[in-house]
Amino acid sequence: MSGASTSANRVRWGILSTANIGLKAMAPAIRASSNGQLIAIASRDRARAEQITAAEPGMRAYGTYAELLADPEVEAVYIPLPNSMHMEWTLRAAEQGKHVLCEKPLGVTSEEVRRMSAACKQAGVLLMEAFMYRFHPQIRWTLDHLATGAIGDVRLVRSGFAFDIRPRPENIRLQASLAGGSLMDIGCYPLNLCRAVFGGAPSSVAARAIVPEDSEVERTMAAILDFGNGRLGLIDSSFEQPWQQFAEIVGEGGRIVLPRPFTPQGAETVARIERDDEMQERRFAAVDHYQLEVEHFGECIRTGAAPFLSPLDALEQAEAVEAIYAAAGYSWPR
Ligand SMILES: NC(=O)c1ccc[n+]([C@@H]2O[C@H](COP(=O)([O-])OP(=O)(O)OC[C@H]3O[C@@H](n4cnc5c(N)ncnc54)[C@H](OP(=O)(O)O)[C@@H]3O)[C@@H](O)[C@H]2O)c1
Repeated sequence: MSGASTSANRVRWGILSTANIGLKAMAPAIRASSNGQLIAIASRDRARAEQITAAEPGMRAYGTYAELLADPEVEAVYIPLPNSMHMEWTLRAAEQGKHVLCEKPLGVTSEEVRRMSAACKQAGVLLMEAFMYRFHPQIRWTLDHLATGAIGDVRLVRSGFAFDIRPRPENIRLQASLAGGSLMDIGCYPLNLCRAVFGGAPSSVAARAIVPEDSEVERTMAAILDFGNGRLGLIDSSFEQPWQQFAEIVGEGGRIVLPRPFTPQGAETVARIERDDEMQERRFAAVDHYQLEVEHFGECIRTGAAPFLSPLDALEQAEAVEAIYAAAGYSWPR
């Protein structure tokens, strides 16, 4: 969609819950978008929804998610609920004819993703897993650059993502009933990047998951992903390490290093390309990848184009998550 849409043509969005990511990242992204308009927020606590919408004339506050879905003005919903609730609320949104942008991981299991995908297809609404980092120019550039053969055939992707959750013991990410776990929350990014680089699913997997004695879910995970023909992914995630993220893509003729592959928002970021003794840097200005994601999804709604991240891609991702947990001997779902 070129330029800003007129207000009548903007996609009218609602957000299910007052989740941190919804309020801090997606609500501002929808407001700033060229083709979207945030018109409603629902919370289990109506007063909380009202508190958030109070400053914006015309914004609707709902005290249940179902009420928001029943609002005929809402065309698309963003679902940033705990992982265990993604399927239920995607199915209910589809029933009400709403397009669904749902947070990662789309489903807890591949079976859930299949059901979500089938329901949205049947209802004629779009469904996309919200891997916002795929919309950042540094990732688009990296994948395009690899496709030109800039570092030769890729043999290895090494990537990790961690932070220390211990000061927040009540967090949804630590609860088994809400489908927490480090792979579900952050390890899914390095996994997704490996699949994007190699253009498919791993054919086999070896993995370890560490579940501390007092924890309901794994808090650290490491996996070796075999993509066939000598191509490997090495990924890890943890809730018990200092904040870190990185990606390194090694080809037969060099490597690309991304110091901040997943959450570079709000800051300039860089890709380092190394070949023998030669080192180049490609710099990317700060952009809001949530806004780019919202604009893409909105454009698909208006034009009928298929979203860049398909339900089939989300299914392959969920199957890989299951394969990692199975290889680690970690019972899933818990
Ligand atoms: N793409 C990204 O950059 C990114 C970043 C962070 C998180 N995420 C994903 O977004 C989702 C939410 O993460 P978050 O950290 O933003 O979550 P959060 O702040 O803990 O919020 C979750 C919200 O879900 C609602 N909720 C409904 N039932 C709940 C229950 N039983 N326990 C707790 N909350 C419940 C609550 O909203 P109400 O009380 O208002 O109804 C709560 O505010 C997860 O799927 C996560 O993987 C994505």
